[in-house]
Amino acid sequence: MDQGVIIAIDGPAGVGKSTVAKRLAARLGYLYLDTGALYRAVAWKVLQSKIEPADAERVARVLGHTTLHMQFQHGAMQVLVDGQDVTAFLRTPEVTAAASVVSAIPAVREWLLPVQRQIGQRGSVVAEGRDVGTKVFPSAPVKFFLDADASVRAERRHRELVAAGHGGALEKTHQELSGRDNRDRSRAVAPLMAAADARHIDTSTLSVDEVVEHMMAAVSAVS
Ligand code: DC
Repeated sequence: MDQGVIIAIDGPAGVGKSTVAKRLAARLGYLYLDTGALYRAVAWKVLQSKIEPADAERVARVLGHTTLHMQFQHGAMQVLVDGQDVTAFLRTPEVTAAASVVSAIPAVREWLLPVQRQIGQRGSVVAEGRDVGTKVFPSAPVKFFLDADASVRAERRHRELVAAGHGGALEKTHQELSGRDNRDRSRAVAPLMAAADARHIDTSTLSVDEVVEHMMAAVSAVS
């Protein structure tokens, strides 16, 4: 099958990427690729293997005998590590923290590149992450870079955590989010940044529907 159409959405944590990417994918009938879930799956395997997430050598070695697959059902993406569906384990605070660390390891990013690119063979995709428009799919015809005030993002992430039963103090969520942002933006390989041809959307004061409408208008303009 030919490469489908790719829509790339990048931006920092808590900016609303997943919510709008899922909605946009549903509206367009495209697959939804959550690239962060793949970094989380690597982190899950590393933690299961009792390896220190910052130990680049051992992390790279464990990937040598790890398989990772994605399944798509009803607009959601499931991740299988070594044949086991681990989707339900990927959003715990432990995995979130370890994902931020392993995602800075060049061997991890290299290992995940073909996994992400293969999905382009399955059809048209809305892909969200940190380097989708810059590195994974640099020739995507439509790219968005979402951003929002750090305090707005921390509040959104805190609400999500509370809803998932992982709630703590808002201040702590704010600090963790800032720490992840700094690591994502300052890492040597594929740091978080907007592609030169990305459309910027500040979601601080926009509703999910408003962001999606904005995106739909941009997508129709190029198709
Ligand atoms: O979007 P998320 O919170 O699920 O991402 C989990 C971690 O993976 C986050 O710390 C950033 C990293 N990540 C990345 O480095 N590159 C991507 N394309 C997606 C996520």
